[in-house]
Formats: sequence, structure tokens, C-alpha cells
Amino acid sequence: MSLPQIREEHLKEIVKSDKYPDPFADIAVDVGIGLTSKPKMLNPKYFYDENGSRLFDEITRLPEYYPTRTETKILARESERLIAKYKPMAIFELGSGSATKTNMILKPMKKMGLLKEIGLLDFNEEFLIESVANFQNRYPGVRIRSVVGDFSKELLFDSFNHSPTLYLILGSTIGNMSFRESIKFLKRVAEKMHPSDYFLLGTDLIKDEKILYDAYNDSQGVTAEFNKNILKVINGKLGADFNLEYFAHEAIYNSSDNRIEMYLISNSDQKVFIKDLNLEIEIERGEKICTELSRKYDRQKVEAMLETAGMEIIEWMTDEDSLYALSLSKLI
Ligand code: SAH
Ligand code: AVI
Repeated sequence: MSLPQIREEHLKEIVKSDKYPDPFADIAVDVGIGLTSKPKMLNPKYFYDENGSRLFDEITRLPEYYPTRTETKILARESERLIAKYKPMAIFELGSGSATKTNMILKPMKKMGLLKEIGLLDFNEEFLIESVANFQNRYPGVRIRSVVGDFSKELLFDSFNHSPTLYLILGSTIGNMSFRESIKFLKRVAEKMHPSDYFLLGTDLIKDEKILYDAYNDSQGVTAEFNKNILKVINGKLGADFNLEYFAHEAIYNSSDNRIEMYLISNSDQKVFIKDLNLEIEIERGEKICTELSRKYDRQKVEAMLETAGMEIIEWMTDEDSLYALSLSKLI
């Protein structure tokens, strides 16, 4: 990704919210608990250091990884119509990442003279710096608030005064949360919303298992590298001595729970020492560390999830192959 020119005033717009500590603040506790549980597991938010975010960006361009492409296609078809109909004046994106697709919403907002304010929240600060610089270049005069934060916790930012505000979380990022976490997350978003605000949600749909399997087992091995990056992050942040060569990437589709399950499988009996925790972990040959769940939905499941959080769908948009869905909701 090429860095746009960052002018001094761009950097002033980055809000390193003092309400949020360093997003990696809990990593010692999370890793300690995760690697001493049975089965072993890690929180997928720790994929996203600078390298992990770059690898995810690479994943989005892989031929097998249809979600990003498909979501882009739906947005290309629907954005103008949605903006003309619902007239949002501000947007707030959670887990914005490289915020590439966000432009497809901002452009018509700007064209129709609606755009007043942009908010972005992500775990990864580098991504936020790039996105803010990009948007400052494209949308001069528009106020941008960006927050380095963690959406699995309380949402510690103030709602905009501009209503309607469009809140969004794209890329099926919600699919990486457990069912309980996703409900908690949606309730927190609903608490931020005024009655005239909207919520745009991207969800990957249940489909042919081969398509799903290939998307998480790409032929170039980028997903494998992304998966192993979580061990690199732990090595770097906690002084652990994981040897990445002693692990293999595995992603399987669990058809009864409708989710991809991503693991790192140990290819030998091994001991890993985590210096900052003064903890030695024993891992057996064939033992799996679960690194990510990626849940797949149908309309009913998305509807039920939103309803539990006090929202109702007013637009349901899919591609012609029903691979992916975008839903627009409002408070009930
Ligand atoms: N919205 C983008 C990126 C999706 S990748 C897209 O559709 O392509 C998931 C993004 O969520 C990453 O940028 C990652 O840094 C961010 N993320 C993951 N867990 C997070 C958390 N708990 N809090 C905040 N951001 C998180
Ligand atoms: C960010 N998230 C929605 C991606 C997904 O598809 O679950 C992360 C990912 N994991 C492996 N490939 C992509």
C-alpha cells in the first residue's frame, strides 16, 4: 500500500483517545489464559499488528477470497441509491482497516452535499493514519475523528451531533466474534445510535463448502502466513519463543455451526517459553491452537442477531450468487 502524503494537519486529526489504553494492553492476560486453557485458543484481534494488517490486505485481493470483492460489488450497485434515500450526514466505521470500501459511501455523500463528519475506529493505528490522510486529501474540510480502540469493549467515543449518522462494520468482521460477543457489540452500537441513525452491516453467507474452504486455504499461502503472524505478535510483544516452522495452518468448515475454524497445529511435541509471563507452555504433536472463528450467516440469523440488539433490517442486499449480504438497519 502506498502511503499518501501526510501533512501536519492530517496528523492533528488522529485522536489517540485517552479513554482507550494501548489496544495491546491486555495481551499478556489474554495469551496467558488462552494458552493454558483446553483447547488452546487466541483472540483474533491480535492478528492485526502492522504486518498482520498488511497480510489481511493481501488476502482481500486473493482470487479465492471472494468476500471483499463481493461486498465491493454490492456497494458499487447500492451506495448511491442508499445515500439518496437515507441521506446520512456523517459516518462512523468500526474496524475500518484500510477503509477502501468506505470511499464508495463517502463519494456519493460528498456529491450530494451531505458529508459533514467521518469517524473511524480500529485496533491498528497505522491503518488509521493512512485512512485519515487519504480522506483529508479526498474530502478537504470534512472533520475526521479517528480512534485507536477496541470494539470488543465499551465503545468509548461520543456520538456525532449530525443525524442521521451511518454506523458501519464491513468485511464480515462481526463473524470473527462469538455469538455472545456479537450481541454485546451490536447492543453497544445501538446505544450510540439516535432514532434517526442507521447501521450498515456486512455478513458473509452460508454457501458451498468448497468455496468457503478455498477462501481460507488459498494457494499462495497468504492466509497461512496471516495465521502464523499471531505467534510473531506474541513473540514480539511478550518475549515468547514460538518457532513458526513448528506449526501448520489449518482452516476447516464446521457445517453444523456454520463457521470456518482456523487453527495452528503443532507438528512436534514442544515447549514454548513466554518471558513476560514467566510461563512455559507444553504443546503436544497434533495439538491445535484455535486462532479464529469466521461465522457464516443467512438472513434469518442476521435478523435475529440484530433484533436481539434492538434493531430491524430495512434493506437486505446480496450479490447475484448470494455469497455475501449487506443489511441496513435502524432502531426498532
Ligand atoms: N473493514 C475492513 C477491514 C476488515 S479486517 C474491510 O472490510 O476490509 C478487520 C479489521 O478490524 C482490522 O482492520 C482490524 O485491525 C480490526 N479489528 C479487529 N478486531 C478489532 C477490535 N477488537 N477492535 C477494533 N478493531 C478491530
Ligand atoms: C476480518 N475477517 C472478517 C476475516 C474473515 O474472513 O473472517 C479474517 C480472515 N481470516 C482468514 N482470512 C481472512
